[in-house]
Amino acid sequence: MLCVGCGGVGKTTTSAALALAAARQGKRVLCLTIDPARRLAQSLGLEWASTEARVVEPSLLARVGVPAEGTLTIMRVDTKTTFDSLVNQLAPDAERRDRILNNVLYRYISTSLAGTQEYMAMEKLYELRGDARYDLIILDTPPTANALDFLDAPERLVGAIDSPAIRWFVQALESSGRLSFNLVAKSTAVLLKGLSRVTGSGFLEQVAGFIKEINAVFGGWRQRADAVAAALRGPDVAYVLVTTPDPLAIREVIFFAERLRSERMRPDAFVVNRVNPKFTPDDDRVATELAAAGFANDPELVDKCKEALRDAAKNGRMDRIHLMSLEPTIEDFGVGMVAIPTFASDVYDLEALSEISTMLLGEQLPAGASLAP
Ligand SMILES: Nc1ncnc2c1ncn2[C@@H]1O[C@H](COP(=O)(O)OP(=O)(O)OP(=O)(O)O)[C@@H](O)[C@H]1O
Ligand SMILES: [Mg+2]
Repeated sequence: MLCVGCGGVGKTTTSAALALAAARQGKRVLCLTIDPARRLAQSLGLEWASTEARVVEPSLLARVGVPAEGTLTIMRVDTKTTFDSLVNQLAPDAERRDRILNNVLYRYISTSLAGTQEYMAMEKLYELRGDARYDLIILDTPPTANALDFLDAPERLVGAIDSPAIRWFVQALESSGRLSFNLVAKSTAVLLKGLSRVTGSGFLEQVAGFIKEINAVFGGWRQRADAVAAALRGPDVAYVLVTTPDPLAIREVIFFAERLRSERMRPDAFVVNRVNPKFTPDDDRVATELAAAGFANDPELVDKCKEALRDAAKNGRMDRIHLMSLEPTIEDFGVGMVAIPTFASDVYDLEALSEISTMLLGEQLPAGASLAP
């Protein structure tokens, strides 16, 4: 199960809550997360920095209604560690593997190149998908500004190393490992010579050498990326699309749903997180409650509170107006949607997570239903 959505909408929170919900149903769940909030990890009794699979203490889970057969394992996906193990698997021999792992450019590509984090999250899922220890794997996708970046990651990553520009560059590399300016057009040679003056001697050779190395394992790599991309389109994969009532986030999630359809997949559920409550502000009640709290002689405070309450009610109304634009998509796909309210503070303890789990399991609105309570 993949939780997808644009940055900051609540993918990590939803993933953790879904994992808890499934554990509560007695499933053995693995939650693969990219950026667990430190406080959330701590409240699950986990060490934040670890990239090992960590089993959440059963006694903690029992407190929030998880039966003995339900388990929750959480693993933080680290981009570099996952990339290293991929190179380990694909490199034909130890010498070549070490040459790649020790190259400075590899360090850049394996940590900073756009798309690497997304791709490595998929890799981890691919690697673990047949693992008999788990009934369900939930993948919390990385914080991309744009949800579509996630689906495009394998092609983007492969494309970055297999682009015409890179092939052109590799052409200029002699078998000796030195750059040869004979094999390329004169204008190219001038450009490369100019470049090496700027970057210092040896740098371009390092770049070209690395690309040659990575190309040697590349046949395997492209195949692997294709297999990973194909696995994400399998019938055993479900997409949970997460959004907030923010118009931009909604637009993004609709784009993503359409993109899934264009690739013969479909969204399986929508989660609308951080919905503001709908209510009618009651000026009289503000006045009586403030008076009861001893603020009767502070008319300025009473006015401010009334105004704040009116603003909050307006947010609630606006959210419902914005969410109307999502309704046709939900109806069209005929899938469920769950609305999660905005909590008074960040979601970092087991109790709040458990509350969201209950909502995810229980308060499903039928397709096309409105959010109005
Ligand atoms: N319903 C909610 N009410 C209040 N706070 C929330 C709610 N849902 C999430 N949060 C808080 O909002 C912040 C962002 O949530 P989360 O980390 O789950 O988003 P994300 O989509 O994973 O973000 P990123 O794209 O950066 O990975 C967190 O601090 C989380 O505790
Ligand atoms: Mg996140």
